[in-house]
Amino acid sequence: MQIYSTIPEMRTALKSREGIVFVPTMGNLHAGHIALMTRARSHGQTVVVSIFVNRLQFGPNDDFDRYPRTFAADCAQLEAAGVDLLFAPGETDLYPEAQQYHVDPPEIQHQLDGHFRPGHFRGVATVVLKLFNIVQPQVALFGKKDYQQLMVLRNMTRQLALPIDIVGSETVRADDGLALSSRNAYLSPAERAEAPRLYRLLDGMRRAVRAGERDFARLEREAAAELDRHGWKTDYVALRRQADLQPPEHAEERSLVALGASRLGTARLIDNVEIELDGSR
Ligand code: PAJ
Repeated sequence: MQIYSTIPEMRTALKSREGIVFVPTMGNLHAGHIALMTRARSHGQTVVVSIFVNRLQFGPNDDFDRYPRTFAADCAQLEAAGVDLLFAPGETDLYPEAQQYHVDPPEIQHQLDGHFRPGHFRGVATVVLKLFNIVQPQVALFGKKDYQQLMVLRNMTRQLALPIDIVGSETVRADDGLALSSRNAYLSPAERAEAPRLYRLLDGMRRAVRAGERDFARLEREAAAELDRHGWKTDYVALRRQADLQPPEHAEERSLVALGASRLGTARLIDNVEIELDGSR
C-alpha cells in the first residue's frame, strides 16, 4: 500500500491509475469500514482510502479532540484488506488556508442529526467534495450506518453533476446488534452492554410497522421514552421516507427508515433500520 499525505503527491500517484474506487474515512477503522474496502474491490481496479479527522464537521462541543486516532493499526488493517493507496493528509495539507468556500446542503442539513449538530453536514459535504476533487474516483462507497450523510452526499453528487457513482453499503453490526462505530470506544462495559437497545428498538419499530402499525408518532415517542428510561438522553427517534428523509405523507409509503440518535454516557450513538413494506425484510 502506498501512503501519501500531500495533495500534489496524491495527484501524481493517481495519474497512471484507472478504475479508481474511493472510501473516505476518519480512521480508527473497524470491520464496518473494512467491509467498505472489500466491497470497493468489486467496483474497480484501484482502491483508494482516505483517513482525515475533519475538524470542519465537528461542532465546538463535539469530540474532535478526543476522537480516537489509531494510524498504525489502521494502516495494518488497510494493508491486509488489499487497499492500493492511502491518502492521510495532516490538517495543513488539506486546509493550508482557512476553508472559506463551503458546500451548503439544502434544508435537510438542519433536520434530524443536523438539528443537533449545526454545521455538521456542511462540513461533511465540503470535505468530501474536496477529497473527490483530489482523488477523482469513478465510484465512492459510504455506509448506510450514516444514513443522512449518504443521502446528503448522493444528492450533492447528482445536483453538482459529479461523474461519480455513489454506492451505499449495509451497516455492519456486532453479534448483539450494536452498529460498529469508532464512538463505541467511549462506552464503559456497563454502557456497552446497554448499547444494543437502540438497534433493538429501531428493529422493533420495523416489525411493528410491518405488522400494520401506522401510528408513527406513537412508535417514535415510545422508543425515545424507553431509551431515556434506561439512562439514555435521546436526541430523536424518527420514522421517515427513505427517499428524502421527510415524514411519510400517507400511511402506505412503501420504503421507510427508522432513525435514532441518543447519548449513552459520553457517547452519542446513531443507528437506523430500513423498512420495506413489500419486500421480505
Ligand atoms: P467515518 O465515521 O470514519 O466513516 C467512514 C465510512 O464508514 C462512512 O461511509 C460510514 O458510513 C462507514 N461506516 C462507519 N461505520 C459503519 C458500519 N458499522 N457499517 C458500515 N459502514 C460504516 O463518515 C465519516 O467517517 C466522515 O463523515 C467522512 C465521510 C469520512 C467525511 O469526513
